[in-house]
Amino acid sequence: MGERYDLIVRNGTIVDGTRAPRHEADVGVRGDRVVRIGNLKNERAKKAIDAAGKIVSPGFIDAHTHDDRLMLSAPEMAPKASQGVTTVIAGNCGISLAPLVLGNRTAPPPLDLLGEGDWYRFGSFAEYVKTLEENPAATNAALLVGHTTLRVVAMGDLDRAATENEIGKMQVMVREALDAGAIGVSTGLYYEPARAAPTEEVIEVCRPLTASKALYCTHMRDEGDEVTGSLEETFRIGRELNVPVVVSHHKVVGTPNFGRTSETLPLIAERMKSQGISLDCYPYCASSTILSADRAALGTKTLVTWSKPHPEFAGMDLAVIAGKMNLSIEKTTQKLLPAGAIYFSMDEADVQRVLAFEHTMVGSDGLPHDAAPHPRLWGTFPRVLGHYSRSLGLFPLETAVYKMTGLTAKTFGLKDRGVLKEGAYADLCVFDAATVDEAATFARPIQPARGIETVIVNGAITWQDGKSTGARPGRVLRRH
Ligand code: ZN
Ligand code: CU
Repeated sequence: MGERYDLIVRNGTIVDGTRAPRHEADVGVRGDRVVRIGNLKNERAKKAIDAAGKIVSPGFIDAHTHDDRLMLSAPEMAPKASQGVTTVIAGNCGISLAPLVLGNRTAPPPLDLLGEGDWYRFGSFAEYVKTLEENPAATNAALLVGHTTLRVVAMGDLDRAATENEIGKMQVMVREALDAGAIGVSTGLYYEPARAAPTEEVIEVCRPLTASKALYCTHMRDEGDEVTGSLEETFRIGRELNVPVVVSHHKVVGTPNFGRTSETLPLIAERMKSQGISLDCYPYCASSTILSADRAALGTKTLVTWSKPHPEFAGMDLAVIAGKMNLSIEKTTQKLLPAGAIYFSMDEADVQRVLAFEHTMVGSDGLPHDAAPHPRLWGTFPRVLGHYSRSLGLFPLETAVYKMTGLTAKTFGLKDRGVLKEGAYADLCVFDAATVDEAATFARPIQPARGIETVIVNGAITWQDGKSTGARPGRVLRRH
């Protein structure tokens, strides 16, 4: 007689993603679903995992990623699976791989954060979704279409507002993306190719979101001196479209702005009473994106993460490189471009305040194609569980898990994900609460985390014993 369960995770401590207090139970999985949580001592299964002394939680949902291409070029998704991540939100900061065909043209920064021009090979969003579904990754994905990508398709020069005709073209592409399964639009108004877009352009391009109540996610125009003005712009876009907004990687940068999250968070909390607003955060006081001398000037230290003309400088301090080249920071930067960097430009107290804010989700913002990436790529989730929850006591483990599961699934409309309950999809993470932590550091950023024991996606084990199993059960998720 066949077993009633394909898999039983036995004797674990359940942290279910809702902030409910932990309790001990077995978890029975059949196919891609959790079918029973309780005492399964006398039940047999094709496969069993002993989780005694370990936490069993929903798999983590990375609220903010740039994994559009990683899912195709390294589908085992090691940087994410190794952290217990089972779903990624891709297409952030205005940067999506589709719908754009570049051929042998180079990708204009920041689109080059996803790699070379020839990775931009999907003429429609549907084509990208189809390719992902035919070549699944180890993680599920929910996809945003990027406003900057659309601008590159629809416009010749990017240093001006889009014309009515160009806005019309972008609306058609937004509609096509939503029909193909995209959950919303992202913008990166901070970056050069989108900076000239006025608020009205964004509102008009995003019009198609209203009918399906899809999301507007944004890397805001300004996270420095003008951060409150940028928050107000974001809220206005959400109100005019009547859609929920997500403030990506909320932070305030630059020494003169240290402490200002005590101003931004109450503003967000106040506006949340009258409109849908969410936010995510990565747990570090250093940011990372393309290299520029202006950005470097805002921080105390800058590390180069990649450089096309000078790959040998990846991982080095910009000031040290400038010394070697005997050039100013400005001139050195010009020599290194196109390039990426890590900027130490935030206040740790702000990072903690944002992370501890009741409504903040955890998102890595990891850049998977950097030669010497920011450690957030491999370390975000274990760092929140280990460093911030266990060591600093910033919040209980149940809250930490909620910020990376239940809250995130609710925000992005991912049905039957993010909460460990009977009937939900079997996206699970088994980890050791006593040892879980990041192993990645700024000096050695490519390291699988500690304490993540088993990761399960749609009922299939994707990560175990410190390595990928090779399983690729990921699906493209729609918004409900
Ligand atoms: Zn961003
Ligand atoms: Cu980003």
